[in-house]
Amino acid sequence: MRSFDVISAADLDLGIGKDGDLPWKLRSEMRHFSRTTKRTEDATKRNAVFMGRVNWEATPEKYRPLPGRLNVVLTRREDYPLPDGVLRANSIEDALRQLAEPPYDREIERVFCIGGGNVYAQAMAMPQCTRLVLTRIDERYGCDTFFPAHAEDFELTEVLGRGSDGDVDYEIQDWRRRAV
Ligand SMILES: NC(=O)c1ccc[n+]([C@@H]2O[C@H](COP(=O)([O-])OP(=O)(O)OC[C@H]3O[C@@H](n4cnc5c(N)ncnc54)[C@H](OP(=O)(O)O)[C@@H]3O)[C@@H](O)[C@H]2O)c1
Repeated sequence: MRSFDVISAADLDLGIGKDGDLPWKLRSEMRHFSRTTKRTEDATKRNAVFMGRVNWEATPEKYRPLPGRLNVVLTRREDYPLPDGVLRANSIEDALRQLAEPPYDREIERVFCIGGGNVYAQAMAMPQCTRLVLTRIDERYGCDTFFPAHAEDFELTEVLGRGSDGDVDYEIQDWRRRAV
């Protein structure tokens, strides 16, 4: 199985979603998400993103599948319809196994878990999850979905950048799994 990074954005309460959607619109933060998940060292390869079915459905149809990346949707529903070119997986292990097999073993450079809350919690409990790229937004949005507590298993190693959208400030953090 392959290792993977988690990428997320959370508010001051570690809130990540509300009423099945993102409670904020931060254009520059979305650009960071897009750039980070698309960037490859080898121009002939692309990255993969895996996500929960609720996150997939929360993504407006015109933006999905996320372009330039192999999209993998986690669902336990065997008959869940997905467009051509999008993979379905019935567990995170199944997703990582599919990505470790031809043709994806050669074609895919990096793998990102892009949420939501249910999937983050399972993914971050797996040793294959080695890194968190976490945007901390300096606001409170009264969310109903949360990013898992992570300071015990991961260590903040670097602040990758700071930004703002309107009057909302945020910091992009790099967390690495602590050695056991
Ligand atoms: N701020 C951020 O960075 C960020 C990122 C992503 C999402 N979000 C927000 O998070 C919220 C959605 O999160 P959520 O926790 O409600 O749902 P979710 O994690 O996106 O999706 C949960 C669904 O994924 C499937 N699933 C989960 N684990 C699975 C497994 N091990 N094997 C197979 N299928 C599995 C199940 O689908 P089935 O029921 O079909 O079996 C489950 O109902 C939204 O508000 C969204 O906007 C925020």
